[in-house]
Amino acid sequence: MQTLRITLCAAAMTVAFAANAAEVEVLHWWTSGGEAKAAGELKKMLEAKGDKWKDFAVAGGAGENAMTALKTRVVSGNPPAAAQIKGPAIQEWGDEGVLASLDDVAKADGWDKVLPKVVIDTMKYKGHYVAAPVNVHRVNWLWVNPELLKKVNAKAPTTWDEFFKTAEALQKAGIQPVAYGGQPWQDSTVFETVALGVGGVDFYKKAFINLDQGTLKSATMVKVLETYKKIKPYTDKNAAGREWNLATSMVINGKAAMQFMGDWAKGEFLAAGKVPGKDFLCVAAPGTANAYTFNIDSFAMFKLANKDAVKGQNDLASTLVSPQFQEIFNLNKGSIPVRLGADMSKFDDCGKQSAKDFAADNKSGSLVPSFAHGMAMHSATQGAIYDVVSQYWNDDNMTAKAAADKLATAAKTK
Ligand code: GAL
Repeated sequence: MQTLRITLCAAAMTVAFAANAAEVEVLHWWTSGGEAKAAGELKKMLEAKGDKWKDFAVAGGAGENAMTALKTRVVSGNPPAAAQIKGPAIQEWGDEGVLASLDDVAKADGWDKVLPKVVIDTMKYKGHYVAAPVNVHRVNWLWVNPELLKKVNAKAPTTWDEFFKTAEALQKAGIQPVAYGGQPWQDSTVFETVALGVGGVDFYKKAFINLDQGTLKSATMVKVLETYKKIKPYTDKNAAGREWNLATSMVINGKAAMQFMGDWAKGEFLAAGKVPGKDFLCVAAPGTANAYTFNIDSFAMFKLANKDAVKGQNDLASTLVSPQFQEIFNLNKGSIPVRLGADMSKFDDCGKQSAKDFAADNKSGSLVPSFAHGMAMHSATQGAIYDVVSQYWNDDNMTAKAAADKLATAAKTK
């Protein structure tokens, strides 16, 4: 009798569990080595809550392809449960009336107390949480292969003069100076880093947050564009169209000395078993040691009718912001936790430096949103600016002055 009761009880539990095992379809673009490892941690933690992860991965750095796929699904009335949506785009999706409220989870888990104000504001639509943040990526990094720099007796450059001298010396020694991926989002990633380094924080803010016409057409912008284009002779002939992680592999494998990229690149070095400070160096890009371009990944949830699916969404949201997930995920992803006062003891020096600089730059006002990663402006404006930057990079006949004028026109796109 006793045994039967236990068996029946267990059977009932299995049925209850099966009914609640929500399938959570998650759209993301984390398909490179380091990214996939980090995403794998999310899947594991969600499944530990009894939910089922349905992978909707769309390859392509910075998520341009993923966003196109998302639009198609939403327009056809069949949105995924969750999608990687960031920055001002959260408001754009909010305007469409398709996002679900995460207020209950946020209240239960105390998000208002554990997240920085700037992050809370981005995650809310009309006062309600509709997205959950996972990390802070720093974009203005230079990744360096120290072995190759040693061959020309150079240290990691901290100014643009040093950078170009080192690049020249490497080239003369037959070493590929820069690993570059010629894709619009990567062009703009490097361009915004040069803009911060050459123009400074106020210039960056006026140009890419205020979209100030005078600044976009200014002599400083011309100088920024000239400096950006000066990098091109130090890239290789096969750069066009190259994925960012393949460019990172060139630095990892000693095929190129340096790469400008956000710290998702660190995820690639780590996944390849490389040690920071020894096998590779992370340094703030020239002229940007006292500034920080931030890029925050987050997931928004879509309104769904199915109750089990809603449970799955809430489990996902709660997992994303939990301290356990933020630690394990960011150790793999190259970013740092977005939670205030997160324990950084397990992080390497690049992570610790990022956390320290984030806090310092937040205080001094030199924390700026990355426009190349959807943090600063409407997506249509960003697309128009991407186009000009890439046209200028690819067209050797376009002058910096002409490109600056085109940037100013592009900034009017809404
Ligand atoms: C960024 C994203 C990062 C990283 C990178 C390359 O926009 O925030 O998480 O994945 O693209 O795909």
